[in-house]
Amino acid sequence: MPELTYLNGKIFEAGETRISTNDRGFIFGDGIYEVVRSYNGKLFGLEEHLRRLQQSADAIDLKLPHTLEEFQELVETLNRKSELLETLVYIQVTRGTEPRNHLFSLDLPPNVFITIRALPDIPGEIYTKGVSAVTVHDGRWNMCHVKSISLLANVLAKHEARKQGAYEAIFVRENGVVTEASSSNVFMVSGGILHTHPADNRILNGITRQFILKLCDELNIPTEVRPYSKDELRRADEVFCTNSVHEVTPVVTVDGMTIGSGRPGPITNQLMRAYRQLVKSVISNQ
Ligand code: PDD
Repeated sequence: MPELTYLNGKIFEAGETRISTNDRGFIFGDGIYEVVRSYNGKLFGLEEHLRRLQQSADAIDLKLPHTLEEFQELVETLNRKSELLETLVYIQVTRGTEPRNHLFSLDLPPNVFITIRALPDIPGEIYTKGVSAVTVHDGRWNMCHVKSISLLANVLAKHEARKQGAYEAIFVRENGVVTEASSSNVFMVSGGILHTHPADNRILNGITRQFILKLCDELNIPTEVRPYSKDELRRADEVFCTNSVHEVTPVVTVDGMTIGSGRPGPITNQLMRAYRQLVKSVISNQ
């Protein structure tokens, strides 16, 4: 069974799963999720992702129907069952199923939905040549630390990037502060210092972001975790984005302006290599 889906205790072939239209995720976007990547059959950072799932659940008053240990076993079992080595695992928990009503029943059992898919092809060029990004207005809510399935603002941001011929959209708040990208965190290097937005309610505290900051400590790369502006971003020596699927992705233009030399910079390349090395060593010890 290569690609597969799990819903509330049952396994289906991908595409065969059915859920009620009264699912609150379907109706309200009332749910949370995680995306985890596996390498050579092993899930990288699963425990960290599940801890964040718990934090998201707590933030929206959703009681997870399994312990994190049960979730871990479940996800690992499904991933093994798929027999795929390089996968993208999607874990979604919605508030549950009941006729539409903003006020939810307190005893509603949540719906747990998991898919195991083959990792989509990621063109190597994004790492060797870098990608383009445009800035878009960050009009999202004040709980971006919650990994909510309500992603309309992120979807529209990515659409805007495509309309402008760019690969990624970087969110900028009304006050000019850069927060994160449509589905990744953003870093810039300026004067040899790596900058990224603080992990507050304006961004998702990416698991990859946290690993990158730890690697910077180990590699003696100075970091400043502080809000920085769109102007600083455009003038940066290097810019890159991070997420669990695409790891470290160099950004070489922002709003049509060239960043640094127009090629992935030395600190970006160093962190890209260090992150892959970290993944390799964690995976080989599992
Ligand atoms: N998104 N910020 C946003 C808004 C994200 O959606 C993501 C991840 C990240 C990076 O988080 P992490 O390093 O834990 O993957 C930051 C996933 C990949 C997605 O929605 O598909």
